[in-house]
Amino acid sequence: MPPAKAAIFLVVTVRPGAEDDVRELLGDVPSLTQAVRFRIPEGNLTCVVGIGAELWDRAYDQPRPAGLHPFVELEGSKHVAVATPGDILFHLRADRMDLCFELSRQLMQRLSGRVDVADEVHGFRYFDQRDLMGFVDGTESPTGAAAVDAVLIGGEDPAHVGGSYVIVQKYLHDLGAWDALPVEEQERVIGREKLSDIELPDDVKPSNSHVTANTIVDPDGTEREIVRDNLPFGAVGSDEFGTYFIGYAADPDVTEQMLRNMFIGDPPGNYDRILDFSTAVTGSLFFVPPADFLEDPDATVAVVSEVPSTPVDARPDADGSLAIGSLRRSDR
Ligand code: HEM
Repeated sequence: MPPAKAAIFLVVTVRPGAEDDVRELLGDVPSLTQAVRFRIPEGNLTCVVGIGAELWDRAYDQPRPAGLHPFVELEGSKHVAVATPGDILFHLRADRMDLCFELSRQLMQRLSGRVDVADEVHGFRYFDQRDLMGFVDGTESPTGAAAVDAVLIGGEDPAHVGGSYVIVQKYLHDLGAWDALPVEEQERVIGREKLSDIELPDDVKPSNSHVTANTIVDPDGTEREIVRDNLPFGAVGSDEFGTYFIGYAADPDVTEQMLRNMFIGDPPGNYDRILDFSTAVTGSLFFVPPADFLEDPDATVAVVSEVPSTPVDARPDADGSLAIGSLRRSDR
C-alpha cells in the first residue's frame, strides 16, 4: 500500500466505568473496518488501534507490554514536547477521505457516551508528499522487510509478538517565519534540498538539522529506524498549518531517543532547528496489539506461542507497507 492519501487521527479518553464496554466495542473494530472497506475495496481503508498505558491498566488483565508507559514530557532549553491525554488512538487511513470519515462516524456511534474526543485531526496528502513547510516528508521511512523489522515486536517480548508502539504529536507551524527564510537556509534546517529532496552532504548538513537529529546509529553501525506516516492538516481561516507526526516502532525507545535529540539536543542545547518553526501541541504513546487481540484479548495471550513471528495482519503488503492491526485475517 502506498502512503495514505487521507487519514483521520482520532485520540479519545475513556470515561471512568466505561472500560468493560469499550474493551468489548474495540473487538468490533476489525469487522466495522471490513464493512466500510468492502464498499470501496480499492480505497485501501485501514484502521490501527492504539491503547494508552493508563487504559491498559484499567481495562485489561494482561500485564502491561514492556514498552507501554505514558508519553514522557521533554523540556529542552527552548522547546517542550508536551504530554497530553489519550487512552485510545484510532489511526484511520485510506486513499479517500470519505472512507476514513465514515469509519470514524461508525466508531464514534458505538463509543458514544463512553469516551470523550481529546483530539481529532483530518490529514490530507499534499503535493509530492510534501509537508506544509514545502519539503518531501517520508523519504527515508523504511518499507518492506525493513519496515517490518522496525515496527513489529518480535521474540524480545514473547507475550506481545506482532504488536507495535506508536507515538503521535500534533505540530503547528509558524509559516510566516518559515517562509521568510531563504530556501538555502530552510534546507539547512531540514538537512535535505527542497526541490530535489536530496540529502545535503555531511560537511554541509548542520548538526542541528532535522535529519541529523533523527539519524540514530547503534555502536555496531546499525541504524535504528521507525516507520512514519505523517500527514499535513490545516485551516486557512484560523491560520492553522500543521504536521501530524505518527511514528511506529517495535521499541518506543527509538522514537523517544529521536525526541530527546530533537528537544533536548545532543549535546544538550543543540536542539532540532525545525522546532523554531514548529510547536508540538499534543504528545501520546500507545501500544498497538495484533488485530486478533482486540477481538479476544484472553485467547491471544493464551495462544501466543503459536502466533507466527509475523502475524498475517501485520505482514507487509505486496508493495511492502504495513497494515498493522487493521483487518481481520482474510482467511477466516
Ligand atoms: C525526516 C518533516 C517531526 C523523525 C524528515 C524529513 C522531513 C521531515 C521533511 C526529510 C525526508 C524524510 O526522510 O522523510 C518533519 C516535520 C515534523 C517532523 C514537518 C514535525 C514538525 C518528526 C519527529 C520525529 C521525526 C517528531 C521523531 C520523533 C524523522 C526521521 C527522519 C525524518 C527518523 C529520517 C531521518 C533520516 O534517516 O534521514 N522529517 N518531521 N520527524 N524525520 Fe521528521
